[in-house]
Amino acid sequence: KKSVLYDLFGRKHNYLRVSLTERCNLRCTYCMPEEGVKLTPNEKLLTGSEIVNLINFFARLGVNKVRFTGGEPLVRKDCVDIIREVGKIEGIKKIAMTSNGIVLSKKIKDLKEAGLNQLNISLDTLEEKKFEFVAKRKGWSKVMNSIQAAIDLDYSPLKINCVVMKGINDDEITNFIEFTKDKNIDVRFIEYMPFDGNKWNTKKMVSFREMMKIIAQKYPIESIQKLQDDPNDTSKAFKIENYKGQFGFITSMSEHFCSTCNRIRLTADGNLKVCLFGNSEVSLRDAIRSNMNDEDLEELISSAIKRKKEKHAGLDILPSLKNRPMILIGG
Ligand code: GTP
Ligand code: 5AD
Ligand code: SF4
Repeated sequence: KKSVLYDLFGRKHNYLRVSLTERCNLRCTYCMPEEGVKLTPNEKLLTGSEIVNLINFFARLGVNKVRFTGGEPLVRKDCVDIIREVGKIEGIKKIAMTSNGIVLSKKIKDLKEAGLNQLNISLDTLEEKKFEFVAKRKGWSKVMNSIQAAIDLDYSPLKINCVVMKGINDDEITNFIEFTKDKNIDVRFIEYMPFDGNKWNTKKMVSFREMMKIIAQKYPIESIQKLQDDPNDTSKAFKIENYKGQFGFITSMSEHFCSTCNRIRLTADGNLKVCLFGNSEVSLRDAIRSNMNDEDLEELISSAIKRKKEKHAGLDILPSLKNRPMILIGG
């Protein structure tokens, strides 16, 4: 079969993350620089049909999972239509989305009908006031309603993303674990990562080890059970004995998982990005707008993937490398 999606380390990139928009209805400080970001002019953003066509192209190369991200993907008006079209593409087995949950409850039925089969919702705090501090906007109860709506519609296990920040929400880790007691949800504690403009430093980060220590102070060690992870999972999964849900850790900083990476990214402005922390990008938008033939497009994608590094640069170097702000990547 075609080798386009393989890199020089034998990793096959069959998971495409597509950012649908650079806009967001929240202003979380770890994601968007305080001063905001310069938005790409509309005509340089991918149109709905360009997105669908590119996904179709990737599917023919062997991509079988697509995740829509943003910004906030649901801010984009043709989001449901895009999902419906992608649902018709042969070879795409899984259509996923990562949303902040602000308008999700209103659109969730349409999304499900259109073919969305996996949902991850961001929630950094179980306290309304703190939400407003972190997100710089109101909306905590809307997110909670969306979480309930997703559970009611059987998105299971529903993944909840919690970026853990020292002195901000690290006191809520065990509350989040209690949140898994009688819900079939998977709360993932994410190590805070550096992106342009997010003022990251090691002191703001809470490592996997530190989080585990906090958890072990509350729960008897024998009740904390390690679960089996899927081969390309970002998170290490655990559960508390007899709890319905589970929790996990996304340890990008303290223990990277690059050796099993199967992800490539398409930015809202049409760049292929082969690593979350990789600053080498190629414009697929320019390629398709200049009517590049399929063979050359394959070659463009293939050579980008073959430039992918074995792993990210590590905690010491990463913060000094030029990248995009998170909001312009999508996670
Ligand atoms: P699944 O498709 O369910 O495995 O979801 P996911 O965990 O890959 O995606 P999600 O959008 O929910 O992201 C959760 C966290 O994982 C975010 O902080 C992402 O930035 C991070 N993440 C996602 N993909 C990668 C990756 O390829 N590398 C690294 N280092 N982090 C990633
Ligand atoms: N570090 C870790 N995770 C982040 N996310 C956004 N910014 C960061 C960061 N600096 C998470 C969001 C969302 C997911 C796509 O990425 O919370 O759930
Ligand atoms: Fe893949 Fe890059 Fe993330 Fe490592 S840092 S898992 S190589 S996207």
